[in-house]
Amino acid sequence: MERFDLPFSIPATHRIGFTHGAFGASNSLLRELLESGGGRRALVYLEDAVADAWPDLSSSIQQYFSHSSIALQAVNIAQGAEACKASDALVRQVWEQVEKHKIDRHSYVIAIGGGAFLDAVGFGAATAHRGVRLVRFPTTTLSQDDSGVGVKNGINAFGKKNWIGSFCVPYAVINDFDFLHSQSPEVCRLGLIEAIKVALVKDADFFTWIEENAALLGALEKGTLEECVKRSALWHARHITSGGDPFEMGSSRPLDFGHWAAHKLEQLSGFALSHAAAVSVGLWLDVCYSVRAGLLAAESAARIGRVLEIMGMPMFDEWLLHRDGKGELAVLAGLEEFREHLGGQLTVLLLRAPGQGVDVHEMNPLWIRESIADMKAACAQTQA
Ligand SMILES: NC(=O)c1ccc[n+]([C@@H]2O[C@H](COP(=O)([O-])OP(=O)(O)OC[C@H]3O[C@@H](n4cnc5c(N)ncnc54)[C@H](O)[C@@H]3O)[C@@H](O)[C@H]2O)c1
Ligand SMILES: [Zn+2]
Repeated sequence: MERFDLPFSIPATHRIGFTHGAFGASNSLLRELLESGGGRRALVYLEDAVADAWPDLSSSIQQYFSHSSIALQAVNIAQGAEACKASDALVRQVWEQVEKHKIDRHSYVIAIGGGAFLDAVGFGAATAHRGVRLVRFPTTTLSQDDSGVGVKNGINAFGKKNWIGSFCVPYAVINDFDFLHSQSPEVCRLGLIEAIKVALVKDADFFTWIEENAALLGALEKGTLEECVKRSALWHARHITSGGDPFEMGSSRPLDFGHWAAHKLEQLSGFALSHAAAVSVGLWLDVCYSVRAGLLAAESAARIGRVLEIMGMPMFDEWLLHRDGKGELAVLAGLEEFREHLGGQLTVLLLRAPGQGVDVHEMNPLWIRESIADMKAACAQTQA
């Protein structure tokens, strides 16, 4: 018997650009990225809500490519938001278009839309020909400051988020800040929760900056918003490129701070609760729990709470109180589901201080219940 274990690593480059007016005639960012890759064809997928908000976008894209050596095959407008992840319809459409327009592994699928749209189109691109190049244009705050610069895609199945999907490094990501300003103010603001999250787990100075600018951020002041999105995106990207576990093979998932409860709340609400809103509630639950567990000082939690409040982030949701068939809080099952999704040992990141996380491998259900009761009481007080 013989056995050879031959380790190898896969070279990858995470190309991330920040700009305004990416499809303006004088903006060469996309053109240079595509032309330097040597591909010849491109297929654009544009989310319907973005096409509606930017009625000239389709023709600007056509115009842009007429000055490029890359042949634009089509601009397909398709439905986005969570509905596009509910079935494989959009994924199949991407496969059909890739086949029809002869998009090979050196050509590009360019996806322009929110996080849900990018996830579904990205999965189609990652599985057509075992992976054609994907260029992402995230158009929401959450997708620009987090998911769009990530290396995952997917659609929902079996009533669970992102159950089908793959890890795949996009060829490039372009954060065109202009798109941020056509979102509804609520979607725009809530998406900043992922910036608060990454600051809390990675960078105390960034958290202090958010704290100092909380009112401007809550008011969506243009320059402050864009700066916050950029800093968050770069932290997320840095974690992937130098955190040592880009494809999440280990059990530790610092960027999923607050997410075990968030995923469960989204699911309990039938996805009526947005990812961002659910993360805000889940994050605040884990902050309150960190205090109960004796890890985080109450004054630090109060600082975080003030930031959430000033920025208008939800700090409680009725789904936290929902009971399962046995009369237990349904959200508690989120812990085991979180472990299952990651595989291996349960690992949840809690906080020792802003900017400093700590992994734990179990959570005390009593302290979770008590934290939820505190959150409810605080919420009732603010409403009174
Ligand atoms: N792949 C990952 O690593 C990862 C990480 C986190 C979240 N996600 C996924 O991202 C999704 C959430 O993304 P999201 O918060 O961007 O929500 P979303 O994609 O649902 O978009 C929110 C809403 O804004 C609209 N919209 C998008 N861009 C717009 C624009 N520029 N102007 C006007 N309207 C616009 C959309 O049509 C939608 O109605 C979830 O499905 C979540 O699971 C994926
Ligand atoms: Zn998230």
